[in-house]
Amino acid sequence: MATSEDGNSQIDPLEKRVVLAAILFAAGCMAMLAYATWGLGISVPTCVPDTKSFDHGSVAKLADKNFELHYLASMWKFEPARVLVPTGSTLDIYVTSKDVTHGLQILGTNVNLMAVPGAITSSRVHFEKPGVYTLVCHEYCGAAHQNMTATIEVSDKVADISAEGLAELGAGRKIAEDQGCLACHSLDGSTGIGPSFKGLWGQTVELTDGTPRKVDEAFVREKIQNPDSNPVKGFEPVMPKLPVTDEEIKQLEEFLKGLQ
Ligand code: CUA
Repeated sequence: MATSEDGNSQIDPLEKRVVLAAILFAAGCMAMLAYATWGLGISVPTCVPDTKSFDHGSVAKLADKNFELHYLASMWKFEPARVLVPTGSTLDIYVTSKDVTHGLQILGTNVNLMAVPGAITSSRVHFEKPGVYTLVCHEYCGAAHQNMTATIEVSDKVADISAEGLAELGAGRKIAEDQGCLACHSLDGSTGIGPSFKGLWGQTVELTDGTPRKVDEAFVREKIQNPDSNPVKGFEPVMPKLPVTDEEIKQLEEFLKGLQ
């Protein structure tokens, strides 16, 4: 406030302009938020303090092509690390953190959330096109921050997969990666040191002695537990024995079944 010579208060014209500018700025922000929500259909991240807290990642099927994903962020991973959904799916995403503040961004989408301990943030995303979408942590959270990623695979080939199957498939793929299977077995149909995993399940292969063998539960289990048995024609018998449990073999098999 400036005081004029006759003692009356009056507003300095500069002050008036600053106040007006501040009001316009605030109104502009509200207008952009409204435009983003209703004009562009972007779901503005919301904090949902009254949603039940969770301490593990999960995938749940709400309806056909509608899934609810609970992501648990921690140093330095997202749980679940891999999720497979049919093309055209809508995902309701909830995220929280187990330790420090992380971020969750799904590249190529509008999803950009903070993962804060004790709070849950949520967003919704629709995947029209198949592809592998990468989740990254966008908040610096320590030494391995840049390795903190996860994926959502959107595929035409999983149209009628069950929610349990989704989790299994994700787990199986993780085992395949962790055990180094993918170094020799491609996922795209190209032949490597071993046959491609793509389309392998249910096929009949020829063993070196000419016997046909169907790639089924028994065969895959045998190959994992005793790789030297039943050598397949056309491939060097170089597969190593894998230190995997019964349960993990089942998950690997689920993964192979999904790669038809
Ligand atoms: Cu988590 Cu950066």
